[in-house]
Amino acid sequence: MLLPRPPAAALPTTAAGSPVRGETGEPAIPDLGHGPQAPFVLPPLAYPARTLAPTISTRTVQFHYRRHHAGYLATLNRLLINHPLAGAALIPVIRDSYGSGALFDSAAQVWNHSFYWRCLVPGGGRAPGGRLAEAIQRDFGGLPTLREALIATATGQFGSGWVWLCAEQGRLTLQRTANADTPVRHPGTTPLLTIDVWEHAYYLDYQNRRADHVTRVVDRLLNWPFAAAIFEAHLDRIEAPMAAMAAPEPPPPAALWPADTRSATFSRLARWR
Ligand SMILES: [Fe+2]
Repeated sequence: MLLPRPPAAALPTTAAGSPVRGETGEPAIPDLGHGPQAPFVLPPLAYPARTLAPTISTRTVQFHYRRHHAGYLATLNRLLINHPLAGAALIPVIRDSYGSGALFDSAAQVWNHSFYWRCLVPGGGRAPGGRLAEAIQRDFGGLPTLREALIATATGQFGSGWVWLCAEQGRLTLQRTANADTPVRHPGTTPLLTIDVWEHAYYLDYQNRRADHVTRVVDRLLNWPFAAAIFEAHLDRIEAPMAAMAAPEPPPPAALWPADTRSATFSRLARWR
């Protein structure tokens, strides 16, 4: 069961009503480098395309990044020309365009893919440390159980979509979304990791064997230090208001005059009557 989300702080808004606060609108969600508003830019890969092989071939990365990801970006920028959301950052565009069709689909796919590339790293798959490791133990019973659940969730997604490890109020959840949908459209949900389970992510290398692809991505490429850093920011964000609430009551303001002074002065005034 999801815990209630905290109320959003009052912020400047776009014409359509979404907060404007940098690219993401939320400090726990990393700036992926799209720029502040349209036309958005394609963030560069953090590693050479060939370094994800053999888990993901160079050819798949190049098609995925230069054709699919770049294609969503081109569509998004075209749709935002003279649009009321043209001056908004990417996350507000995603949230305000939900249900609109092509604009939401392209905006969400741009963010999903930029995040996805950051979730992979050559030589990845090693166990995380810190508070993320503790949360995995608490919420899943350990990394092996989370690994199995992640693979099963990704394999069980019907059709195109994404599987996500998210944090909500400090708790870890596994989620899957269909087509372009994304958990980042929910304020209070912090995506930590994702795996793309659209066929274009694996079909050249694995054909219909999605489970093989996902298993190898989990074991060899997942960027757990990236997820751990986001989780730390997520916890800092939710712990700061709690710490403020737990702080001791400040002492009452000191009396303008000490009581004996007030009495003495009142007495003098009384004598002058
Ligand atoms: Fe994709």
